[in-house]
Amino acid sequence: MNQQLMIEETRKWVKDQLANEKTGHDWYHIKRVTKQAQEIAKVEGADEFIVILAALTHDLIDDKVVESEEQGLKNVNDWLIRIGTTEEQRLHILTIITTMSFKGGTNKPVTTLEAQVVQDADRLDAIGAIGVARTFVYAGNKGDPMYEPTLSVRETLTVDEYRNGRSSAIGHFYEKLLKLKDLMNTKEGKARALERHQFLEGFLEQFLDEWGHE
Ligand code: ADP
Ligand code: NI
Repeated sequence: MNQQLMIEETRKWVKDQLANEKTGHDWYHIKRVTKQAQEIAKVEGADEFIVILAALTHDLIDDKVVESEEQGLKNVNDWLIRIGTTEEQRLHILTIITTMSFKGGTNKPVTTLEAQVVQDADRLDAIGAIGVARTFVYAGNKGDPMYEPTLSVRETLTVDEYRNGRSSAIGHFYEKLLKLKDLMNTKEGKARALERHQFLEGFLEQFLDEWGHE
């Protein structure tokens, strides 16, 4: 299989697996992240083949999407062998998708340019108007309120607190979203994050203003 075909087949495979996904890791999230990652890869001179395959598969090891990270990892590994990626490509892609997730901000920084690009693209999809929308969908799905002034904002969270703790959609802005601008890896990623970050701040300001301070 040539690289273009490997990408097309992977696209179909991922889309198929995310057909019933409702946790914010749906196919359209993958589609947006992959497009943005490819654009950033062009500007930054990263290997587009690696970036695209990693972007397409990055959420398939999330235990919100699959039974366990191990099972997800095995599926992606088997798939990459099946379509004929080289061992070097396969290991690079697996390393990217296992190291890039936010997990309360406790993960080590990613190292390769390709990993940095995919992580930036994933983070961009968590801010701006799309990011705001995803946050409220996620909170609603989890049963969290949109805002709860009595819940203190938790700046430093353990992985478990981050995943299971009681929060609110607005609380999530402080726990994660507002921090992402400064965590962007690449120059192009940073540039793209600016406008989206400003949108978040404007949204928050108006939200809290309409709520009325207490
Ligand atoms: P990703 O790795 O794509 O950022 P996450 O599972 O961390 O995936 O989050 C999926 C979406 O849901 C993101 O937009 C994220 O900001 C949002 N989200 C994650 N945790 C929360 C939470 N506790 N409350 C509200 N939104 C959340
Ligand atoms: Ni993602």
